[in-house]
Amino acid sequence: METALITGASSGIGAAFARELARRHYHLILVARSQEQLNTLAQELRNQYPIQVEVIVQDLGQPQAATQVYQTVKDRGLTVDLLINNAGCGDYGPFARRSRTRQLEMIHLNIAALVELTHCILPEMQQRRSGSIINVASIAGFQPLPYMSVYAASKAFVLSFSEALWAENLDFNLRIQALCPGPTQSKFFQQSGFPQTMNNNQKITMIPPEQVVQDSLRGLEKNQPVVVTGTFKTHIIVNLPRFFPRSVWVNFMGKMFKSEE
Ligand SMILES: NC(=O)c1ccc[n+]([C@@H]2O[C@H](COP(=O)([O-])OP(=O)(O)OC[C@H]3O[C@@H](n4cnc5c(N)ncnc54)[C@H](OP(=O)(O)O)[C@@H]3O)[C@@H](O)[C@H]2O)c1
Repeated sequence: METALITGASSGIGAAFARELARRHYHLILVARSQEQLNTLAQELRNQYPIQVEVIVQDLGQPQAATQVYQTVKDRGLTVDLLINNAGCGDYGPFARRSRTRQLEMIHLNIAALVELTHCILPEMQQRRSGSIINVASIAGFQPLPYMSVYAASKAFVLSFSEALWAENLDFNLRIQALCPGPTQSKFFQQSGFPQTMNNNQKITMIPPEQVVQDSLRGLEKNQPVVVTGTFKTHIIVNLPRFFPRSVWVNFMGKMFKSEE
């Protein structure tokens, strides 16, 4: 039986990955900050399936946190066959007025921790010539996003980094995926400070995290480097920018995302 390590497993897309991989009889290592939520999920899955579920409580927004997670994995004698770098956060509003600490923590969580954990685990996978990594980016990674500038830039990093690793690791028989969800039902929008009014006005259609997970795992079977999940509208939004000058598109996105509050 294989083992999957999932960051941000306490809710949303990460918890949905945990449930689906448990159903497929993966052993699990669940990582996030919310100890109680992780323990509850771990117990639920241990009760339902013949699998081992480990919990590692860690704030990945802090320096060296990912290396500590890796050290704990080694101390417990575990090997990671599937790494899912899912933990992430957003922050909505005009950049100059948002908290500087929050922007830097977001860069650390969305980029540095993902790179750090990948750099810890990838060499072992290369040595075994087996393993997979799913890095959760976003459709926000395909273009700059005014009022979510740092978030979108962080996801552009994840997308570019993951595609490069996909090509680097073909000869090692490894699968690397940039998972780019469109709007998905989770705590994300609330945590990012999105005003409810904007959600309603734009009629954002959210898909369930379970669907994101199914699409991602189907893409992994085919070793697709980039998997976009969501509605037909989501796929249009991803492909439309290539038909416009960048300045025109970014300006349009700025008007779309400007808060009415
Ligand atoms: N929902 C969407 O529409 C959407 C669209 C595109 C991409 N995404 C991406 O999908 C990923 C998962 O988000 P979600 O939608 O499932 O939202 P979510 O329900 O808010 O889940 C975020 C997860 O990340 C964990 N996390 C946050 N800060 C952390 C930290 N400092 N250290 C460790 N773990 C941390 C959270 O756990 P704790 O709070 O317990 O730490 C939680 O498990 C994110 O990377 C997000 O950018 C989401």
